[in-house]
Amino acid sequence: MLVLGIESSCDETSAAVVSGGRRILSNVIASQVDLHALYGGVVPEIASRKHMEAIMPVIDQALGEAKATLEDIEGIAATRGPGLVGSILVGLSTAKAIAFAKNLPFVGVNHIAGHIAAAFLVEEPPAFPFAALVVSGGHTNIYVVEDFGRINLVGQTRDDAAGEAFDKAAKMLDLGYPGGVVIDELAARGDPQKIKFPRPMKDSFDFSFSGLKTALLNYLKTREQPITDDEMSDISASFQQAIVDVLVEKTVRAAEAASVSTIVVSGGVAANRRLRHCFQAACEEKGIELHVPPPVLCTDNAAMIAAYGSMLLEKGVRHGYDIKALSRWPLGLMDL
Ligand code: KG4
Ligand code: ZN
Repeated sequence: MLVLGIESSCDETSAAVVSGGRRILSNVIASQVDLHALYGGVVPEIASRKHMEAIMPVIDQALGEAKATLEDIEGIAATRGPGLVGSILVGLSTAKAIAFAKNLPFVGVNHIAGHIAAAFLVEEPPAFPFAALVVSGGHTNIYVVEDFGRINLVGQTRDDAAGEAFDKAAKMLDLGYPGGVVIDELAARGDPQKIKFPRPMKDSFDFSFSGLKTALLNYLKTREQPITDDEMSDISASFQQAIVDVLVEKTVRAAEAASVSTIVVSGGVAANRRLRHCFQAACEEKGIELHVPPPVLCTDNAAMIAAYGSMLLEKGVRHGYDIKALSRWPLGLMDL
């Protein structure tokens, strides 16, 4: 089945054509990040307007790169939530309009389920059951996935998401937006043990990153000299390691507690090189099979929406044109 996927829940307008839920024929991503960087974060009104401008050219490009036309497309999947409602509406309404005009089956997809489904866009996808960490600018959730449609939340952040912690730290350090990528770069040259940052909520599967942010602020207050390049690298590496340690430790422990031997890690922060390295090392030591999509499929993209949408469409799921965009949509509740 050839499915057109559409994603517009935050600041990326994306369209993709995916065959059989696995093979990516195109995955076009138009990022607005440079625009939002001027404001230090995503401005919802600007995001919606930019999605409106980008959506049709991005879909045209995705069809073109896949050497397909709408006549070849057999189903349409678009992000329905969670995210910025004004942004989601642009992709969701466009998907509905195309589905109506071409009389195609249509489904609204949960964005978090999409992040997990990104791990299936490979030759050898993970086998159920597995533990999944979805870690992005909006979410830090651990699930045990028995099957799609049988997903249990076992841990989540009580305050900031890990990506948000990276972004806020980068702002404090004057490193620009989004912070994750810059800190990832700088950290590669720094000492991750140099500064002791907290690793809270040790015995829980839940996360808390707001204390880490305060610890960074307090550390910066103790500094009298301007921060040198070397010190900036050490701060980045130590801050990053504090996040990486809790993400890896809790996910591995959740997998063990659920007696599953496979872990999937996805979402924007899963593009982080140190996180990937530490997950690899921990999983090797514990004999756990690790699946982390390539970085371009970890950050927001429409191929992952097409992947999950294909699975729904193949199961015969169809949504009406009356489904609404959802700002909040916990995974596991009516995501099929
Ligand atoms: O999944 P995503 O593209 O959008 C959301 O659904 O939130 O994730 C964006 C988040 C941002 O907070 C960004 O700073 C973070 O992912 N991120 C990274 C890296 N690349 C993106 N964080 C750490 N290291 C990276 N290399
Ligand atoms: Zn996302």
